Amino acid sequence: MKRKILVTSALPYANGDIHLGHMVEVIQTDIWVRFQKIMGNTCYYVCADDTHGTPVMMTARKLGIPPEQLIKEVHKSHIKDFQGFYIEFDNYYSTESEENKELSEYIYNMAAKEKAIYEKEIDQLFCINCKMFLPDRFIKGICPVCKADDQYGDSCEHCSSTYNAADMIDPFCVECSNKPEIRKSNHYFFKLSAFKERVEDWINQEHVKPEIRNKLREWFDQGIRDWDISRDAPYFGFKIPGTADKYFYVWMDAPVGYIAATRNLCEKKGYNFDDIWRNGKFEIYHFIGKDILYFHTLFWPAMLMVSGFNLPAKVNVHGFLTVNGTKMSKSRGTFINASKYLEYLNPEFLRYYYASKLTSSIDDIDFSIEDFVYKVNADIVNKVVNIGSRLGSIVYKKLDAKITEPDYDGKKLIQKLRASRQNIQELYENLEYSKAMKEIIALAAEANKYIDEKAPWKVIKEDAVQASMICTTGLNALRIIICYLKPVLPVLAEGVESFLNIKPLTWEDISVDLNNHTINKYQHLANRIDIEQARNILS
Ligand code: MSP
Ligand code: ZN
Repeated sequence: MKRKILVTSALPYANGDIHLGHMVEVIQTDIWVRFQKIMGNTCYYVCADDTHGTPVMMTARKLGIPPEQLIKEVHKSHIKDFQGFYIEFDNYYSTESEENKELSEYIYNMAAKEKAIYEKEIDQLFCINCKMFLPDRFIKGICPVCKADDQYGDSCEHCSSTYNAADMIDPFCVECSNKPEIRKSNHYFFKLSAFKERVEDWINQEHVKPEIRNKLREWFDQGIRDWDISRDAPYFGFKIPGTADKYFYVWMDAPVGYIAATRNLCEKKGYNFDDIWRNGKFEIYHFIGKDILYFHTLFWPAMLMVSGFNLPAKVNVHGFLTVNGTKMSKSRGTFINASKYLEYLNPEFLRYYYASKLTSSIDDIDFSIEDFVYKVNADIVNKVVNIGSRLGSIVYKKLDAKITEPDYDGKKLIQKLRASRQNIQELYENLEYSKAMKEIIALAAEANKYIDEKAPWKVIKEDAVQASMICTTGLNALRIIICYLKPVLPVLAEGVESFLNIKPLTWEDISVDLNNHTINKYQHLANRIDIEQARNILS
């Protein structure tokens, strides 16, 4: 039975460029989506820019442009970066859209109808100089619990306490350093506590990995607090229906952007929206980083429950990218933008490198230039591309561009390559890409060993029939290997397809021989990376 799946990546904020950290997530997701498609499943991949909130408003202010203009420009540049890495979205939308406004209001109204919304007056810090209420990340001060200084307005990195910014000692505005004043403001709360049991039940069914479930249990044990979903003007976002100057907190309308992007896709393509979000015909898969777990496994399920939308089948969580073992940092020159990488290096090499590191766990993954260069050259250039370049010219020049059929040892080799199909398939499905890459490259190594031992470039001098059988084996091996790698290296795969003169490969082709067939002239598929060239991406 073929599956129907909707897949999302977290929506990148519209106030900055895409960097190699974001790329971990979209590459992980894109590989999974391409894998589903190559298996013959129906799979739609949607994402969008997350356009609302104080940081976007402040960035626009600093640039002296309206936020609407900022998010338009950023949208273009985000799309360009993602295309550069062959990320194949079915729709890359924006949370600043009519659909998103309507759906956010709808969910809010449903929650209000279910008595899951209440109002409460709270103390808020207001900066007179910046003329705005300050979000927690725009406030620093001394932790009211352990007295550590230079802490943010929501929690202390020193003692891990969480608190209200209004309770901090000597708070100041991060933007202008002024001391903010306390103002009373009426806020709207989502009664998360009323959903505790239902969300807990949901989490206990296999929607997250056990390692995540344990983390969530800790949160449940600490007690679930209601959620403040409103922000005061000035704010860039959607106004809350029935209020004069209250806005939805960005994290309220952001995940709704998943639904809005789907609705927009359905309108454009004539797909049935209800099949995806209403009646459970589709499985919904979210891909997120570990920093936004709370939003996706507590708030989001509750929002979906209250409004009658389908819940995700799985929330897949990945770890963070580090560069040379530490957090990316502008001052250390290790903060790498996607566009900077694209200026110097082949996008598929990053896709392969990440795949070779990604597992289903939330462990961080590290990018080191030396390791990257070594791995890509050793695996992709020396073991995969090499098969094509060595055999292509023999077949094209000396064997009339014709392949025949494998010899006896060749048949055994091909059998062996095929035997991994089920295992590699499961590894992709379960996000164990690192293990999948290891297995595929081990198969490529065997193919190379066969070719080295059989040395068709020598055999051709005496026995063209035998040489042809060796080359046929090698090229069949390449075809299977590139099919296994196709979700990771779609463009390299296209290159091999056109060299072998075959239709786009699907998973079924792994079990089929390519014999008695005419190929095309070998066109160069990929270059080795040189370490100096790679170092250009560090500033
Ligand atoms: N806008 C929110 C998500 C809203 S989803 C309804 C957000 N944006 S973000 O731009 O900060 O991050 C987008 C995604 O990229 C998140 O899943 C985040 O975890 C991921 N990453 C951002 N930096 C990262 C690394 N350095 N490494 C790996 N992933 C990282 O959060
Ligand atoms: Zn200020």
